[in-house]
Amino acid sequence: MADLPFPGFDSLPLPILLAPMASGATTPPLVSAVSDAGGLGCLGCAMHAPDAMDRDVAEIRRLTARPFAVNLFVLDELQTPDAEVVTAAWKLLRPIREKFGLSAAAPPPTKFGESFAAQFERLVTLRPPIVSFTFGILNQGQMDALHKAGCYVIGTVTSVAEARAWESLGADAICAQGSEAGGHRGTFLHDWTTVMTGTMALVPQIVDAVRLPVIAAGGITDGRGVAAALALGAVAAQLGTAFLRSTECGASRTWKDALGRAGDGDTRVTRVFSGRHMRGLDSELRRALEPFADTLPGYPVQLALTAEIRAAAAKAGNAEYISAGSGQAVALAREESAATIMTRLAQELTAAGKRANWARN
Ligand SMILES: Cc1cc2nc3c(=O)[nH]c(=O)nc-3n(C[C@H](O)[C@H](O)[C@H](O)COP(=O)(O)O)c2cc1C
Repeated sequence: MADLPFPGFDSLPLPILLAPMASGATTPPLVSAVSDAGGLGCLGCAMHAPDAMDRDVAEIRRLTARPFAVNLFVLDELQTPDAEVVTAAWKLLRPIREKFGLSAAAPPPTKFGESFAAQFERLVTLRPPIVSFTFGILNQGQMDALHKAGCYVIGTVTSVAEARAWESLGADAICAQGSEAGGHRGTFLHDWTTVMTGTMALVPQIVDAVRLPVIAAGGITDGRGVAAALALGAVAAQLGTAFLRSTECGASRTWKDALGRAGDGDTRVTRVFSGRHMRGLDSELRRALEPFADTLPGYPVQLALTAEIRAAAAKAGNAEYISAGSGQAVALAREESAATIMTRLAQELTAAGKRANWARN
């Protein structure tokens, strides 16, 4: 069954997107629950093999008739990583592997993530109504292929220059990611440190610079934040951390519990977990590897090197050695079903909208 083309954000009952969150956090039940509640559910597929993309998209289509989105990381094809860099990084992890009963003598993994070209080809075949991208920008041929397949295309940016680049390519909407955001930085044109602009400052500048609809992301974890995003000129808000503790979210129990204990100063941006800068809860693993951060291999090699430790720690209930992606407003996230979160967000948005009408009263 073909999905209907997405007519745009005005057609959504609620101006709320579930942020795509790779590594299994955005499950088909979570995506469909958000879409069914009137928002837009987005499936993070960056770590999916093409067959897993088929499986999850089929499951979403079975669960909901509402629009949904599929997200990928735009990556160059992986070259064989420098063996010396990998060996040095692997050696750093040895004492930590021993701590979790993992073989210290084992050689480093040799498979480092999925091929973007293969994922992209499958995406075009799957023809989801909406597709979104982060980490980089498509080429014109890829953009044209998606439009020919009837997809609505969203590009993630962290600066005005990046927004203009996606607009020139023919994107349908821009997701403006402020520095408060949990997960990886989407920066692709700059040194990431130079574009750590907060959502409040970034969104109106991008709204003024492009003619496309702008979605605000980063630190928006309740309906007050959604109202603020709309006041800044965004058509919708994309929320990640707000859904990480939800019943349907695929995050481990260890991760969800750590988020439940976190406060406003508990996140850091680091590349030690994956090889690319991301925001998550501070931890012993982050502090142990941070002095060597610049020597570690890039994404997705470092992600593969730390995989067994992170999985063992999650299983052992040890949040100090997982990679607990999280935005700065984590303390506002609640452990509720996705439907309850959406109902609450809608009520909070209405209340915040009324408060924002102060000038008329
Ligand atoms: C655990 C986690 C994983 C994420 N994975 C992705 C992803 O796969 N693709 C993507 O475009 N954004 C990803 N993001 C970033 C979100 O799209 C969004 O920018 C962010 O969640 C917004 O900030 P917030 O977490 O404060 O709501 C991720 C965020 C988190 C917290």
